[in-house]
Amino acid sequence: MAKPMNIAVVGAGLMGHGIAQVFAAAGHEVAIHDASAAALAGVVERIRGNLRDLDQDTAFADRVTPHADITSAVRNADFVVEAALENLPLKQALFAAIEQAAPATAILASNTSVIPITAIMEKLQRRERAIGTHWWNPPFLVPLVEVITTQWTDDATLAQTMALHQAIGKTPVHVKKDVPGFVGNRLQHALWREAISLVERGICDAETVDIVVKASFGLRLAVLGPLENADLVGTDLTLAIHQIVLSDIESRPGPSPYLEQLVAGGRLGFKSGEGFRRWTPEQQAAIRSAVTQHLKKARASPA
Ligand SMILES: NC(=O)c1ccc[n+]([C@@H]2O[C@H](COP(=O)([O-])OP(=O)(O)OC[C@H]3O[C@@H](n4cnc5c(N)ncnc54)[C@H](O)[C@@H]3O)[C@@H](O)[C@H]2O)c1
Repeated sequence: MAKPMNIAVVGAGLMGHGIAQVFAAAGHEVAIHDASAAALAGVVERIRGNLRDLDQDTAFADRVTPHADITSAVRNADFVVEAALENLPLKQALFAAIEQAAPATAILASNTSVIPITAIMEKLQRRERAIGTHWWNPPFLVPLVEVITTQWTDDATLAQTMALHQAIGKTPVHVKKDVPGFVGNRLQHALWREAISLVERGICDAETVDIVVKASFGLRLAVLGPLENADLVGTDLTLAIHQIVLSDIESRPGPSPYLEQLVAGGRLGFKSGEGFRRWTPEQQAAIRSAVTQHLKKARASPA
């Protein structure tokens, strides 16, 4: 491994603890900060538990040091990644504090899911060192990290960020324009919009949507991306299909009224026991377990 770096992670929740774990397992020293004392108190043990579950050395967790104070967490950082709540004013305030306390040479990254990096970083003094690094859950099982540059990010910051994530075993890709949702979440939510619309229009029920995906093109997706698939069948066939179906596919610019009704009615999904479908605690546990087992298998034998 190249020289160990000082990594600071701000936010020790679902994503932050997992990101800290990946950097620590790759040999880096990790300082982690959270506003919640409870989240911070449990973070090293949570990482140790994940490592045990992955058959990795639990001693890697000792490289993660919790800090109750954000200033001390980022003071010596070479690279800071923020994974606090998905809230723009909060992220802006955090980066103002981070920039004040971190070394001038530190790279400052946000793990936001969909907020443009430009909006988060626009008030910083050193915007050329600011960048997006969008990981996927769980960070220690899903390889992709989208690296998003803004109009201000300099070439050295991009190159260092790509090299760092490559070296820790992730699959970094460069997203050249800072659009909401970057690449992965735009693709994912284009599919979800049509999935919801199919149910809303009574074309099929929610369970059928999921069966169709899981029993057909979902099986291929891990080894055949959409544009590889379009080339495989031919761009001429793709054009012929689009001439017929695109005008009937959902293109509403806002969220579906059906989705808004579910939320207004308290049908929030797993957390309320019902969303598009009803979920018993056993069914929820079975789905979570199936996803983890599937991702572990994919990690053991990558495509
Ligand atoms: N959950 C996902 O699948 C996923 C995937 C990719 C990116 N993200 C993004 O990562 C970020 C974190 O998401 P998460 O799922 O880990 O959320 P989470 O709720 O599990 O964790 C957020 C953590 O931030 C802490 N926090 C709140 N205010 C803070 C502050 N002022 N200073 C420091 N810490 C603070 C909370 O105490 C909590 O521990 C969000 O921006 C989210 O959109 C989430």
